[in-house]
Amino acid sequence: MAEDLSILKGSKAEQYRSLIPQMKGLLEGESDIIANLANVTAALKEQFNWLWVGFYLVKEEELVLAPFQGPVACTRIRKGRGVCGTSWATATTIIVTDVEQFPGHIACSSLSKSEIVIPVIRNKEVVAVLDVDSEHLSHFDATDQQYLEEIIELIHF
Ligand code: SME
Repeated sequence: MAEDLSILKGSKAEQYRSLIPQMKGLLEGESDIIANLANVTAALKEQFNWLWVGFYLVKEEELVLAPFQGPVACTRIRKGRGVCGTSWATATTIIVTDVEQFPGHIACSSLSKSEIVIPVIRNKEVVAVLDVDSEHLSHFDATDQQYLEEIIELIHF
């Protein structure tokens, strides 16, 4: 089980709700995508202290590693491969409660136990994915999905 810091930090939903206005402030007035993705990943890592949080951008039919926080990660992922490539191919959010049970999961870190991947869709095309990894099993749920999808909508890709 993840360490329960909710007494100190508020519930997960409360943490997301307090983070969203900060995100808006960070993103306001800056159009550079790398700068914005860098700050979004830093703010999420700071708030939730996940093992890994970062973006992959769709470039020439591959996902290519973009700003992230956490250990070094694989740089390129093909469509349909791993959780990220599956999220891209299906244009859906994928919550993996136990990465060992996900066929084809790409283990960038042996510490990762559960994962959520959210596709960024613009003009009906997936242009990027947001990937979050946790050292704990079953760490992500519908609350993460709801707020991470909301955060992604704030970013101008
Ligand atoms: N686990 C991912 C690969 C990316 S890393 O976790 C950062 C996947 O299976 O697509």
